[in-house]
This record gives sequence, C-alpha cells and structure tokens, in this order.
Amino acid sequence: MAAHCTVLAAALVFLAIASRAVQSTPNIVLLFADDLGYGDLGCYGHPTSHSPNLDKMAAEGLRFTQFYSASPVCSPSRAALLTGRYQIRSGIWPGVFGASSTGGLPHNETTIAEGLKKVGYATGMVGKWHLGVGANNTYLPVNQGFDHYLGIPFSHDMCPCAICFYPNQSCFDGCRKGEAPCPLFMDNEIVQQPADLTTLTQRYTDAATGFIQKSAAAKTPFFLYMAYQHTHHPQFAGQKFRNSTSRGTMGDSLIEMDDSVGQIFAALKASGVDDNTFVFFTADNGPSLTRHVRGGNQGLLKCGKGTTYEGGQREPALAWMPGKIAAGQITHELAGTVDVLPTVFKLTGAEIPSDRIIDGVDMSSILFTEQGKAIRTHYFYYPKNPEPTIGLYGIRNNQYKAHFYTEGSHCGPPYRDEDCWSKTGQKKQDPPILFNLLIDPSERYPISPKSDEYKTVMAELNQTATEFSRTAVFRGSEIHGSSAALQPCCKPGCKPFPGCCVCNKLPYSARTSPPW
Ligand SMILES: *[C@@H]1O[C@H](CO)[C@@H](O)[C@H](O)[C@H]1NC(C)=O
Ligand SMILES: *[C@@H]1O[C@H](CO)[C@@H](O)[C@H](O)[C@H]1NC(C)=O
Ligand SMILES: *[C@@H]1O[C@H](CO)[C@@H](O)[C@H](O)[C@H]1NC(C)=O
Ligand SMILES: *[C@@H]1O[C@H](CO)[C@@H](O)[C@H](O)[C@H]1NC(C)=O
Ligand SMILES: *[C@@H]1O[C@H](CO)[C@@H](O)[C@H](O)[C@H]1NC(C)=O
Repeated sequence: MAAHCTVLAAALVFLAIASRAVQSTPNIVLLFADDLGYGDLGCYGHPTSHSPNLDKMAAEGLRFTQFYSASPVCSPSRAALLTGRYQIRSGIWPGVFGASSTGGLPHNETTIAEGLKKVGYATGMVGKWHLGVGANNTYLPVNQGFDHYLGIPFSHDMCPCAICFYPNQSCFDGCRKGEAPCPLFMDNEIVQQPADLTTLTQRYTDAATGFIQKSAAAKTPFFLYMAYQHTHHPQFAGQKFRNSTSRGTMGDSLIEMDDSVGQIFAALKASGVDDNTFVFFTADNGPSLTRHVRGGNQGLLKCGKGTTYEGGQREPALAWMPGKIAAGQITHELAGTVDVLPTVFKLTGAEIPSDRIIDGVDMSSILFTEQGKAIRTHYFYYPKNPEPTIGLYGIRNNQYKAHFYTEGSHCGPPYRDEDCWSKTGQKKQDPPILFNLLIDPSERYPISPKSDEYKTVMAELNQTATEFSRTAVFRGSEIHGSSAALQPCCKPGCKPFPGCCVCNKLPYSARTSPPW
C-alpha cells in the first residue's frame, strides 16, 4: 500500500511538473510601430506625448537606449525582424514594396511564425505586413507561418486616402490617388475596401485580444505579431482619440496605438497568461521628417527615416516579462530587430535554422540578467536602397560609429539640417566620419582622422566591416517587379479598375472581432 502511494505520489508529482513544463512555454507578443521615432514616447522623454501604457510597460520591464531596426525603411526592416537576417540576404532591397509589387518575402526564408508553429504555437498576425501580396496572395502572412491575419498588407498611404479622422475629416494628403482603395484582408480575403481608418485600430485590437483569449482558453501557447499602421503618415484616429492630446495629429495617432497596447495587456491579464508572456515593443524605422510637425520625432538623434544617421534606425524598444525581466531597468547594450528571432526561438525551444546565416544573436543575457552584457558586438547599417557594389553605409560597436557613406532622405526645408534633406544625395565619406555615440549621440562632433583614437578605432571597424561584407551576399531583388493588375481588389475583373474595388463585408461597428 505504502509503495503504491509512493508510486502514485511520484506519478502525481511527475504530472504536475510535466503540466507546469507545458504551461511554462511562454507566449510571445511582438508589438511593432510604424515610423515611430526614438523621441516619441513619454518614457523616452517626449514632453507632450501621451503614451501611458507603453510608459507602464517600460516601468515594469526593460528599456533599451541602443536598439536598432535593420533598415531605415519599412519592408526591409520587417523582413529582417521576421527572419533574423539582414534584408539583403532575402532580396528585400532596394526600397519597399508597393501595392502593385509582384515579389514578396521568399518562401524559403524562415519566419518567426514558421519556427514557432513547428513547436506547437498558435500564430496570429494583425496589421501592416508590407512583405508582398503577389499573385493569388502567395506572399501574405497566412502563407508565411501565420494561422490568421487581419490587416492592410502595406502602408495606408499606398492607396488613396480620404477620411482619416472621425467623423468625416480628410487626411492631410491624397496619398496614391490612382491606386486601388486600401484593402483590409482577413486571412486571404478582402473584407473591406477601402479600409475605414477611423475604426481600423479598434478592429485590429479586437482581433488581437480575441486571438489572445481564444489561444489562452485552449491552453495553446501563442505568438501574436501586432504591427500597427500607427504612427505612419497620414496620421489618423478614431472618435475617442481625435484631438485628445496637445501634440496634434501625431499625438492622436500615438495615443490610439498606446490605448490598443493597454487593451492587449488587459487581455493578457484577463486571460490569466500575463505571468507567462514575453512582450516586446519596437518600431520599423525613424520618423518621416517630410511630415513636419504632423510626423514623429527622433529626439536627440540626427535626421530620420530613410537615413543611416541615428534618427533613421535607432528606435524605442521595451521588453516585458514579469518575474523574468526585472522592473524599471534601462540597458545601454547594443541590440536590434535581427536579434528578436534568436531570442524568441531560445525562449520557446524553436529551432534556429542552421543552413543559413542568421545575423541576430540571443538577447537573453541583456533581458534576464540585471546589467547583463550583450553577445552582440557590432551593428551594421544598410541604406534604404542598398547596392551590392557598395554594401554597408556604416558600422558601430558599443561605443563608436563610422559612416562610410551618408545620404539624406524623407526631409527638406524648413528642416534646419541639410544633411537630412532628400536632395542631399549619396556621399562617400573617405576618410569615414567617426563619432563616439556614448558621449555624442547626436553625431555632432566627428573625431579627427588625425587622432590616435580615430586610427585605432577605424582599424577595428574597417576590419569588422570587411569581414562581415565577405559573407553579406545579396539575393536578387524581390522589389523590382510590378504589375498594376496585382493591386488587391475585392471584385476581381471589375471596371473601371481599380476604382471599382469597393466592398464592405463587415458590419459597420468597429467592435467586431474576426471569427478566429
Ligand atoms: C532560397 O532559394 C534561393 C533561390 O534558389 C537560393 O539562392 C537561396 O540560397 C535560398 N535561401 C535559403 C535561405 O535557403
Ligand atoms: C493563381 O491561381 C489561378 C487560379 O487557380 C491560376 O490559374 C494561376 O496560375 C495562379 N497564379 C500563380 C502565379 O500561382
Ligand atoms: C460621412 O460621409 C458619408 C458620405 O458623404 C455620409 O454618408 C456619412 O453620413 C458621413 N458620416 C458622418 C458621421 O458624418
Ligand atoms: C479637431 O481639431 C481640428 C482642428 O482644430 C478641428 O477641425 C476638428 O473639428 C476637431 N475634431 C473634433 C472631433 O473635435
Ligand atoms: C578605413 O577604410 C577607409 C575606406 O573605407 C579608409 O579611408 C581608411 O583609411 C581606413 N582606415 C583605417 C584606419 O584602416
């Protein structure tokens, strides 16, 4: 009898451990903002932004000060995030996909979602994809590892924009007037065209929270990739947030996104999974300075979107995992979006592809150890339009950054720094311009090429850049091809195309979550 009890007790203990082990596979929530600058959030020092939920996430977790997107523009940045590889390797260059693009993220790339599916995760994506649509929607998220998708598959200025603010207030632009209206996809089907921007964010949020609730109820670990259209131009906002801050249209856009983040945290809590979820927040690239005061702010950094100055690629980044990541920390360690895949795969036991170069490194040492050191030693800067014959525009280590080339972008007068202007073209910097970013984050005071400091540092950076470039093989571009007939249309074959692509298969109410 006693022996039986012991066996039974041991079995129960085993079951308890086993079930805890199953439950302990953490859920992953990746929150991604669009064209958000280093200086845009309250917790990064903006005086009039309202971002209480992101600020709370920072207070309860870890805030990075040296975190990079892999590109100063959208599609390549997202390709690198989802594959852990610099965009040149997957052919996501030069520039970005448009509504008529024929290409997309190649299917033989492994996305975070594909890796996590293999270890039993439910995978959902909501929002801006921007890695191609293609013939028969072949490049959409549901064909790239995601079980479900709800979103506009590219920037919402790549289609005509009419109404940006409740009730019927125009956008501050006509956007691309000749293109098909902005499509809202649910999985592979267009359910609303044009997408209603004034209700879009709440729709996105409902899809995200619905996915969290359903996955949690089914006790399935989940990966949610929530890629906001906010705070990209044209800024928009629904009824609740229009004119609700003192920061104009950018403030409205930001607070609507922040409110959605708050709803996602509330859903994690209500579903009882908040103590077993890793949440990471960052953005694709810096603010578009062409939008003047209506756009974002790069804070104390130089220039913005489209440039390899710090304002183009250094981003706010927050990591949250109660009980694992200590509250209220700040790290000055070097990290970037390519590191997300290795970190998430390490956390979840997913397998890192071994048949290809992965540029990212596991960030666990920074995340889970207070004052922990990064494995990463360097970050590499590719411009918005990389060229195989030129390669890197710059490189940094944990302290110094060298510019081999510079170029302005997404900017013009009356902005006061001509280096940032779009008409300031590509310039080879020989000798390279060198800054000490830890003491000169604004890239104001180049280190003299005559100094010993310069010579020592540049010798190391040159050597590392040369070694890296040897392995940095460009895949053929996926971005060049274009066919107007491929613009997503909810009424295939209708005339006059593309203006006739108008449908609404959704009830008007914003509070409708998809049936998944
Ligand atoms: C994907 O296929 C292309 C074309 O065949 C090839 O060049 C590339 O190396 C492959 N990439 C991976 C990651 O397998
Ligand atoms: C798309 O689907 C149609 C109908 O099934 C098929 O005829 C066509 O070849 C497909 N196109 C591509 C590029 O797969
Ligand atoms: C917005 O404009 C449309 C079309 O002009 C009109 O049908 C609708 O009633 C307007 N909505 C509001 C809330 O004013
Ligand atoms: C918001 O402010 C703008 C500019 O002052 C004004 O035109 C608009 O009517 C306001 N909208 C709402 C919903 O209050
Ligand atoms: C580094 O490379 C640049 C050319 O890109 C060259 O001008 C410079 O002299 C090199 N510096 C050192 C210290 O090797």
